[in-house]
Amino acid sequence: MIREARDDDWPGIWPIIHDVVTEQRTFPYDPEMTEPAARRMWLLPPPARVVVAVDGERVTGTANMYANRPGPGSHIASGSLMVAKEARGTGVGRALTTDLIGWARRSGFAAIQFNAVVEVNVAAVRLYESLGFVTLGTAPGAFRHPDEGDVGLRIMWLDLR
Ligand SMILES: CC(C)(COP(=O)(O)OP(=O)(O)OC[C@H]1O[C@@H](n2cnc3c(N)ncnc32)[C@H](O)[C@@H]1OP(=O)(O)O)[C@@H](O)C(=O)NCCC(=O)NCCS
Repeated sequence: MIREARDDDWPGIWPIIHDVVTEQRTFPYDPEMTEPAARRMWLLPPPARVVVAVDGERVTGTANMYANRPGPGSHIASGSLMVAKEARGTGVGRALTTDLIGWARRSGFAAIQFNAVVEVNVAAVRLYESLGFVTLGTAPGAFRHPDEGDVGLRIMWLDLR
């Protein structure tokens, strides 16, 4: 089940973010990010939206979504999603991405742009492609992967018009 995040979800969200940023495999975020900094980065105020995937009381994933750029760029949406390690491969990422697409459509955005999808993040690339996203281009070697060396960052795009 996907629902809007509440303040008291934070203790369930933070371990997911902490895992992802310390792994350094999927997001170009500072691995030393503190909990308060993560909270400010993730729990964006409206008109952005933050959701959690829950299995009973347990937070199994989270996404945030927002206008990709201000002013003349504000008709394009963007967002980020993270699934708890133990819940990956069970449909949580698909549910979060579908929710994000629904929100972007309802809000009148013209497209969704993911700015930096690590090209060897097979789960993310396959998931987004299966929902209609295409890769517009790749910044070569822009991400320092712990196992695979310098790999590209894809810009992925879903047209909603
Ligand atoms: C990428 C991520 C969001 C995918 O979420 P998930 O819950 O694991 O994925 P789902 O179970 O919903 O699977 C959706 C699709 O992704 C693909 N997929 C998922 N895991 C995969 C894997 N290990 N290998 C290949 N494809 C995979 C499949 O196409 C799958 O489609 P299917 O449902 O028809 O099998 C999740 O693995 C994650 O949070 N990873 C760490 C953070 C991250 O990478 N965030 C995205 C950054 S752009």
